[in-house]
Amino acid sequence: MSVLIKENIITLNTKNTTYQMAVNPNNYLAHLYYGALLDDSLAIERGNVGYHTLLPLPYDCRNREFSSAVCPLEYSAYGCGDFRTTPLKVRFSDGSSVCDLIFESANYVDSKPKLEGLPALHDNEGKSQSVEICLKDKVHDLRVYLLYTAFEEYDIIARSVRIENHTGGDLILESVLSTCLDNYEDEYDLITFDGKPYAERTFHRTPLGDVKLTCESKRGSSSHQCNPFFIFATKNCDEKVGECYGSAFVYSGNYTASMEKTPIGTTRFVMGINPENFNFLLKDGESFQAPEVIHSYSNNGFSKLTHNYHDVIRKHLFRGKYADAERPILINNWEATYFKFTAEKLLDIAKKAKAIGVDTFVLDDGWFLGRNSDNSSLGDWFVDEEKLGCPLNQLIKEINALGMKFGLWFEPECISENSNLYRAHPNWVLQAPDRKGALGRKQWVIDMSNPDAVDGIFGMMSDILDNNNIEYIKWDFNRYLTDVYSHALPADSQGEVHHRYVLGVYDLLERILKKYPNVLIEGCASGGGRFDCGMLYYSPQYWTSDNTDPMERLSIQYGTSFCYPIIAMGSHVTESPNHVTKRDTPFKTRSNVAMAGTYGFELDLTKLSSEEIEFLANETNVYKKYSQLIRTGDYYRLTSNSARYMGWQFVSNDKLNSLAVIVQRTSNIDFKPIIQKFEGLNPSVMYRVVIDGKERENLYSGNALMNIGLNIRSLKYENESTRIEILSAKAQ
Ligand code: GLA
Repeated sequence: MSVLIKENIITLNTKNTTYQMAVNPNNYLAHLYYGALLDDSLAIERGNVGYHTLLPLPYDCRNREFSSAVCPLEYSAYGCGDFRTTPLKVRFSDGSSVCDLIFESANYVDSKPKLEGLPALHDNEGKSQSVEICLKDKVHDLRVYLLYTAFEEYDIIARSVRIENHTGGDLILESVLSTCLDNYEDEYDLITFDGKPYAERTFHRTPLGDVKLTCESKRGSSSHQCNPFFIFATKNCDEKVGECYGSAFVYSGNYTASMEKTPIGTTRFVMGINPENFNFLLKDGESFQAPEVIHSYSNNGFSKLTHNYHDVIRKHLFRGKYADAERPILINNWEATYFKFTAEKLLDIAKKAKAIGVDTFVLDDGWFLGRNSDNSSLGDWFVDEEKLGCPLNQLIKEINALGMKFGLWFEPECISENSNLYRAHPNWVLQAPDRKGALGRKQWVIDMSNPDAVDGIFGMMSDILDNNNIEYIKWDFNRYLTDVYSHALPADSQGEVHHRYVLGVYDLLERILKKYPNVLIEGCASGGGRFDCGMLYYSPQYWTSDNTDPMERLSIQYGTSFCYPIIAMGSHVTESPNHVTKRDTPFKTRSNVAMAGTYGFELDLTKLSSEEIEFLANETNVYKKYSQLIRTGDYYRLTSNSARYMGWQFVSNDKLNSLAVIVQRTSNIDFKPIIQKFEGLNPSVMYRVVIDGKERENLYSGNALMNIGLNIRSLKYENESTRIEILSAKAQ
């Protein structure tokens, strides 16, 4: 049993972790423990924390012994002495915001319930167990249902919150965060994956000081600027040792996450929908479902934490045909042609792509009515046959005849001022009355909180998908939300637009997937601006960044790998000098870096020499040989982001095959040898080692490879890379 309710203690156990809470003498749901697996002992000792505190200003003199300001709690509301960030704030119909949540009930839940309208970990095979706990305000019948699910095998605890209003009046939800994780230590570092366009998800480690650290997005999407995945870790934590806690938000809109200390040395981490610009009217009898947070704990460093997330996302977040299937190798025409192409040019590229073993041709932006620059036509999802020089389905037929699939770019949530859609439906745009919205990237955002707009977009996309053999969609979103106002909602509901927008996007994605279950959706948002667990529920791969320079991708892919599986990262071989940075990088390095992802191409193959085509054909074969290992294997970061060279390694589940790549970042002028130790192998298995296609004469034991390492003699210069295959000698 991974969930146990015994007297006043509720315990969730996974293979290596325990999460425990208790109803304390004041009837609050206290947090007792989250850490390494406990035997039968209970963390009840800790139930005293928050009592008998020596704090000079107790909250309530009638109850001197208890302080809700410091007691580790599972969830709490604004107004009754918990001065940390309280996850819940409501405004009752009498105008008061005072709410005091006490324990009401705890019940086992058989199978993990779906969260209405929201993405979440799924479990159709009974691999998880859940408990639902009800807290209730002391005065009003406001109920807070906390759902906890333990995925035993992966050391994962998923949490979400549902609010039910039975107060007899309407109320306003001003904040409903999804998790509150109090802890009994305060010597932590907070690890964030922040950045910007072209530098998404960069690893940063900040010691938790005496002031609160807050990270957030107010951009309407989870953003390039700070990914909704956080780790807090003990000071000694590195890839292999130390304790760390991860929290991934399964949501793609505005969010907040913060961490703070209390005077008695406990900490609070919270995460949820950003309360700024959020006011949700909850009528009597209605409920509100907040999104899920996926927690994990490791006392074996970051590497184990990463494996927990990669496994659970691959098995319980990805869905549909491509959840557990080979992903196609793509050629995308964007960096090859931008807006300037004809069907003939595309076909020429497709033919070369076929010669190097590519499976799918993707036609990017510019295929629809009048779209020759980013100045017009978004929203008019009708084929521009004049530009193509033929109907789209004729081009698709010719590409299919080459033995390749066809994919198409859409940006369903955006609209150009110069578009028939805008002329027909000006009210479908997010913009406040009497104001023209900001034209970020020369476009506006469609009001996805308006079901009519969602229906309209769905209709146009369906027409294209019904009449053309499209097996892949690149779902782009090149804006942040500004001018957030919905013409479909009354004045006093405008605080709901941000969240309803996200629900509308999820609804459209769900409808497309339901109607076209064979279509693979790859998400994109000006690169990796909405790369989060919410989107991965619909699109099991995401364009990692518009920065396609492999040397810059090293740090982006490094940061992304902490939470997100490698097979979720869209990554392509592009032209050199790179279009973004003008840096020159050898083909080999471009290919090695793209292999730590979905692999594909984004350059004009017709311009390559026959040697280059042959080289890439060989590279594609190598990727195909290792694609299952890359997709399903365990991933190890061999170096940190600040190292002068960077390495990573995939190990098959049976530990018999492994593939590693090392990239030299700076020229090695002092010719220091790279003696690289490897991870995750079987110490007693003998392995063959093949470096860049050349087999070493000796066999090496897993023990030697992990403890002594290999002297990588081949790397001297900046931007060079090497590929190391480690293969069980027996399997030869
Ligand atoms: C965004 C994407 C690119 C490309 C362009 C097309 O920038 O990230 O990959 O699709 O849009 O306009």
